[in-house]
Amino acid sequence: MDVERLKELVGSGWPGCRIEYYEELTSTNAAALSRFDELGEAAHESVFIAGRQTAGRGRSGRVWYTTPGRGLTLSVALYPRETSGPGALSLLPIAGAIAVLRTLLDMGGLRCCLKWPNDVVTNERKISGTMVEARWRGKEVYGLALGIGVNLNQRLEDLPPETTGRATSLFLETGTELRLEEFTAALLVHLRPLIGKAIGDPAEMALIAAPHWIHKKGDLLEVCFDEGVTRGAFQEIDEAGTLHLLSKGRAVAVRYGDVRRLRRLQ
Ligand code: BTN
Repeated sequence: MDVERLKELVGSGWPGCRIEYYEELTSTNAAALSRFDELGEAAHESVFIAGRQTAGRGRSGRVWYTTPGRGLTLSVALYPRETSGPGALSLLPIAGAIAVLRTLLDMGGLRCCLKWPNDVVTNERKISGTMVEARWRGKEVYGLALGIGVNLNQRLEDLPPETTGRATSLFLETGTELRLEEFTAALLVHLRPLIGKAIGDPAEMALIAAPHWIHKKGDLLEVCFDEGVTRGAFQEIDEAGTLHLLSKGRAVAVRYGDVRRLRRLQ
């Protein structure tokens, strides 16, 4: 990736944006978090991009795999003083997902939806995943990494076989191939104000996200998490990113897990 070109393209869309590009990292999230050990607060808003991740991390301990040169892996380091709102940990990845969704539409003409908690999907296949990880000192968070992975130019053979039928890329959906610098610049420009909203105005963030959820009121969903499975009719996703279901007449609030839509309400 041509980082100078990327910085030029970002320009005034994110004034003074600090971008670090590495051919190879274990994980951009790990790099963002460890920068807090060196710099503390000064690491805030540093952006880490890797050509290749040797240990890319996904939610729930999964691996995030991307094809070098064809996918985007990026993390933004955020210092908690600026992100101490109660919903920040769950709203930041939603902000990231909305930035991806807007950029895919602007640059690739591809319409996508959000699937709870923060996947970007099109035609029921995942095209991007986002997640937030925290660095803790005792009970105190002293650094966050907002990580974003996007499948852009991958061909079918680039996607891991275990994701067949569940994952896709912009190229596979549209035949459009984008330059990584151009997509990344547009993504960062969308992302910055959304980070501000996730941190400072959760109600507004929830309103921005609302029309993009693939889930419609009454859809029957199944949520899997460590302790088991919950099924229920979708009600809403609130300002803290919590999923609300109605299960056997009982209201159930779900804060984490993986969701599967069993039946769409007609
Ligand atoms: C998920 O859907 O499971 C979340 C995937 C997040 C992947 C990104 S790629 C950039 C950043 N670095 C990582 O190691 N993971 C995130």
